Amino acid sequence: MGNGTENREQWGSRLGFIMAAAGSAVGLGNIWRFPYVTGMNGGGAFVLCYVAIVFTIGVSVMLAEFVIGRSAGLNAVGSFRKLKGGAWPVVGWMGVIAGFIILSFYGVIAGWTIAYMIKSFTGLMTLAAEGKAGDAFGAFVSNPTQVVLYQVLFMVMTIWIVFKGVGEGIERYCKVMMPALFVILLILIVRSVTLPGAGKGLEFYLTPDFSKLTGASVFAALGQGFFSLSLGMGCMITYGSYLSKKEILPSAAITVTFLDTMVAFLAGFAIFPAVFAFGLEPAAGPGLTFITLPNVFAKMPGGMIFSFLFFLLLFFAALTSSVSLLEVCVAYFKDEMGWTREKASWLLGGIITALGIPSALSLGGHFPKIAGKDFLDVMDFISSNVLLPLGGIFIALFVGWVWLEGAKKEATNEGKAPFAWETAWVWIVRVVAPVAIAWIFVKGLKW
Ligand code: PFF
Repeated sequence: MGNGTENREQWGSRLGFIMAAAGSAVGLGNIWRFPYVTGMNGGGAFVLCYVAIVFTIGVSVMLAEFVIGRSAGLNAVGSFRKLKGGAWPVVGWMGVIAGFIILSFYGVIAGWTIAYMIKSFTGLMTLAAEGKAGDAFGAFVSNPTQVVLYQVLFMVMTIWIVFKGVGEGIERYCKVMMPALFVILLILIVRSVTLPGAGKGLEFYLTPDFSKLTGASVFAALGQGFFSLSLGMGCMITYGSYLSKKEILPSAAITVTFLDTMVAFLAGFAIFPAVFAFGLEPAAGPGLTFITLPNVFAKMPGGMIFSFLFFLLLFFAALTSSVSLLEVCVAYFKDEMGWTREKASWLLGGIITALGIPSALSLGGHFPKIAGKDFLDVMDFISSNVLLPLGGIFIALFVGWVWLEGAKKEATNEGKAPFAWETAWVWIVRVVAPVAIAWIFVKGLKW
C-alpha cells in the first residue's frame, strides 16, 4: 500500500505535461457551456469578471493542487495521507468519487459528439435545412441503443488511452489532439467571423452590458471557472504527481489557466457570429451545440465539413478531459490497492460506463426522474455543485493553514524557483478562495 512513488511514471517533457493538463481543463465546459453562459450574463462584462476570478482564485487552487501532488508523488487520497493523514484523505476520496460521477455522464455527452460527426455527412444537414434539427436531436437522444452505443465507444477510447499509461497514452495523445483542437478552432473562427452579418454576433458577445452582471453572474463565473479548470477533485493533484522536481509550478499553473481561458473565449468567436449571421437566437444549454449549430451549418456553403470539424473539435476536447477523470480513479486504485494499470483502467472504466447508462437513458425519458430532475442532471448537480466546491475549499484550507511551509517549499523548488506572486497566493488560499467557494457552495445547493 502507498508505494506508488517508487518508479512512478512521469511526463516525458514540460510541453507534454502542459498539453495534458490543458487537455484536462479544455473540455465540453469551454466549448458549449462558456459561450452560452457568457451570452446570458452580460457578454463582455461577464468575460471580464470570469477572467478576474480565474486568474486569482482559479490559478491559486490549481497551483495548490500541483504542489500537493508533486510533493507527495501519489494519487489524490494517498497525497493527503502522506502529507498529513488524519481525516484529510477524505478530501481525496471525494475527488475519486467525483471522478466516477462526472465521467459517467461526461461520456454520454461526449458520445453524442461522435454521433454528430457521422451525422454531419448522413442527413443532418438536410434535416436542419428543413428546420428539423430539434426533432432530430430529440429522436437521437431518445434512442437508447444509439446513445449507449456511442457512449460505450467513447469510453473504450478513454480507457484505451489511460491503459497505455501517462507518457505513452495520456501525454502522447494530448500532444496531438490539443494542437489539432486549436487549429480546428481557428478555422471555425475564420469561417464564422467572415460570414455576412457576423458583426451582430460579435456585438452581442463582446459589448459589456454591466446591467446584466448581477450577483448571480459572479456566482456563475466562479462555478464555471472551477469546472472548466478541472479543480476541486484532485485531478491536478494526480497530474502533478507525475511531474519532475525541476518543473516550475507557479508558471505551469498560469500557462494552463491561460490556455483554458483562451480556448473558452475563442469558442465564443466561432459560435456567436455564425449564429447571428443566420438570424438565429443563441439558445440555451445542449441545444446551442446540438440544435442551433446544425441549423447554422446547414445554411453555410460546405456546411457538412464545418459541422464535422466542429464536432471533431468537441470530441477532442472531451477526450483529453475524460482521460484525466479516469486517471484520478486509476491512480488511486493503482497506488493504494496495488492494482495494475491494465486492471484499474478496464475495470474502473467498465464500472463508470455502466454507471453512465442511466444518464444515457434519462434524456429520452427511459429512466425515472429523481425529484423532478433527469438522472444526468442529478449526477451533474452532485458533482459540480457539491463535491467540486467542497473539495476546492478543503484543498485551499489544507495548503493555506495546515501544510503552508511544505507547500511554499514545494512551490519554489526549495527556494530555487521564482515565485513573484507568493504572498498573493498564500492569502488567496488562506482566505479568499475558501470564503468565495463556500459562497458558491451554499448558493449552488439550491436544487
Ligand atoms: N474541465 C473539463 C471541462 O471543462 O469540460 C471538465 C473536467 C475535467 C472537470 C476533469 C473536472 C475534471 F477533473
